[in-house]
Amino acid sequence: MSSILNNRPALAAEIGKVAEVAGYLWQKGWAERNGGNITINITEYVDDAIKAMPAISEAKRIGATLPYLKGCYFYCKGTQKRMRDLARDPMANGSVIRVLDDCASYVIIADQPVKPTSELPSHLSVHNYLLSKGMNYKASLHTHPIELVALTHNQKFMAKDVASNLLWSMIPETKAFCPRGLGMVPYTLPSSVELAEATIKELEDYDVVMWEKHGVFAVDTDIMAAFDQVDVLNKSALIYIAAKNMGFEPEGMSQEQMREMSEAFHLPK
Ligand code: 13P
Ligand code: ZN
Repeated sequence: MSSILNNRPALAAEIGKVAEVAGYLWQKGWAERNGGNITINITEYVDDAIKAMPAISEAKRIGATLPYLKGCYFYCKGTQKRMRDLARDPMANGSVIRVLDDCASYVIIADQPVKPTSELPSHLSVHNYLLSKGMNYKASLHTHPIELVALTHNQKFMAKDVASNLLWSMIPETKAFCPRGLGMVPYTLPSSVELAEATIKELEDYDVVMWEKHGVFAVDTDIMAAFDQVDVLNKSALIYIAAKNMGFEPEGMSQEQMREMSEAFHLPK
């Protein structure tokens, strides 16, 4: 079957990474039913033939005007599509969209008219923000990691940097590989523009943001790196829970030990 990925090995490799990560999300139990979504800015892989591809959907409103996305292209998971299905067949469970010149609407161009994720306002607003800051981040990931979501059911952990410090202190790697920590967004209606705006505000200080009682939203250079940040944070949450299950409050690394490590690894804060 004809596919936008045919004879485009670099683009196919990028979408291959999305499929690989979708499989991990399912295996980890973070992707029940259609839970979670992924979008990738693929504009750098777009050639003249892709630019000439006709729309295969009507123009649809994004819900926000996003000036940095004019003429950009994204691969998006389809709404109501399962990560475990996307892992096998990314182009039947997602699609490629083109943002139109009004910067407020998009059309689907390939391979099939699969409607993009309901969290598109958050994903595209975040990509617009990343481009406005000149950042080389191309991937955004929303998923439902069990232990991190459980933490957000206690207001103690919703206070600024409480969860970050706790998770960093469980194992040195977490600060090394998620150096900006975990931002917190109070409960907001899924797929709303308000959720998108609250997420962007937190991304000024963090690469990974919790959506209270819902999931995480992570950004990075590619989808594998975004997944890794969530994975190390959730690993720390699992260590915390394991210690609690053994009947004690874990000691955690001291502030001094974390400071020493941040200096040795040249971490941002
Ligand atoms: P979609 O199936 O629309 O991507 O929604 C899944 C989800 O996790 C919503 O927050
Ligand atoms: Zn969700």
